[in-house]
Amino acid sequence: MGESAARGTVFSLEDLLSEHATVFRACFGGAEAPRLFYSPGRVNLFGGHLDYNGGPVMPMAIDRGTFIAGRRRADRRVRIASRLDPQGLEFDLQQVPTSRLGRWVDYPLGVVIDLVARARASGDGAELTGLEIMYGGDLPIGAGLSSSASICVGTAFALDHLWELGLDTQDRVQSALRAERDFVGVQCGIMDPYAVGYARLGHLLWLDCKDASWTHLPIDFERLTVLIADSGVKRELAAGEFNVRVDQCRQAFAALRDHVPGASCLRDVPIDVLEAHGSELPKTIRSRATHVLHEVARTFAARDALLAGDLQRLGELMTSAHRSLRDLYAVSVPELDTLVDAAVSSEGALGARLTGAGFGGCAAVLALRGSEESVQARMQEVFTRRFGRVPAVERFRGDAGPREL
Ligand code: GLA
Repeated sequence: MGESAARGTVFSLEDLLSEHATVFRACFGGAEAPRLFYSPGRVNLFGGHLDYNGGPVMPMAIDRGTFIAGRRRADRRVRIASRLDPQGLEFDLQQVPTSRLGRWVDYPLGVVIDLVARARASGDGAELTGLEIMYGGDLPIGAGLSSSASICVGTAFALDHLWELGLDTQDRVQSALRAERDFVGVQCGIMDPYAVGYARLGHLLWLDCKDASWTHLPIDFERLTVLIADSGVKRELAAGEFNVRVDQCRQAFAALRDHVPGASCLRDVPIDVLEAHGSELPKTIRSRATHVLHEVARTFAARDALLAGDLQRLGELMTSAHRSLRDLYAVSVPELDTLVDAAVSSEGALGARLTGAGFGGCAAVLALRGSEESVQARMQEVFTRRFGRVPAVERFRGDAGPREL
């Protein structure tokens, strides 16, 4: 996972951002130092593919994320670059691009478009200055750790500060969401930007996606640790397949809603209604709905287990969520299944599952403190035997959310 291995051991976030400022200067020149921002990624521990079905989720922001260095310009040019793509994109605020480029830069561009439109609507558009922005970070891209929400919420945070827009967390989260849905074109749920925007150190976010109500649940990192194993399988097809799952859930709800007066999303359908009418649905659609409704129940049970300190139960629920994502929702791959099976067969591991959309990316493992090395060794050994390469396995801590350093 590149630079991430160093975080907290050799280099602090401050070190990494000050190095990022050097890269900014090498790219853009000029005497004035950039302002430095950080925005975390997230790992979802419970509630897989529930957010766009109105269900509950329990994600946690992590101590890996996006670095943003930014500076205002005297004119109206906007230059967006990243360490991997120093050419990035350049445009004038008078002529902000309106269509996607099909590259990483679509994510920050989507947020720029959204915030410029917002400023114009309130009559402040003429006051926006040009900007120079450099992106970097230590979050693996396409690994199911929400690099996209990290970039989008981070961009909204940085632009808010650079342009002095006076936004609040909800404004920034909504701007990130519109950028991804309306501009980038992924029909994602609300979980990721909320997980990033409302992060609190030492806590999971409990987010009920039906009404977007949320609260923080403490998680005991004296006893627990979260390991993340990267399958190394990139989720290139993920956006397309993801939208297919969203559509299948829509079909399931359309077929079942008449049996549930007042239902507004698939989450509202009781399991016994699905059981009674499931045979009317195509088999694939029924499988997707079965995952969703059982996952809703599992996620409530996981909250109870967490609050009761019942870690064994918490872990079991996590592993059964993986099996359901694999068998009923069909979003796993053999590499992830191998990591999960290896993890749960090692002493000290409580449970494991794929995290994020799936189709590759990472598996998250909940383990007892002190067992990290043996769990990691077992996962790497089993995986290497089968796939001939050693997967990266890392310990992640929580994070306090987007901030300026
Ligand atoms: C992706 C999406 C999220 C969520 C997860 C699956 O990460 O961006 O909104 O749907 O997949 O739980």
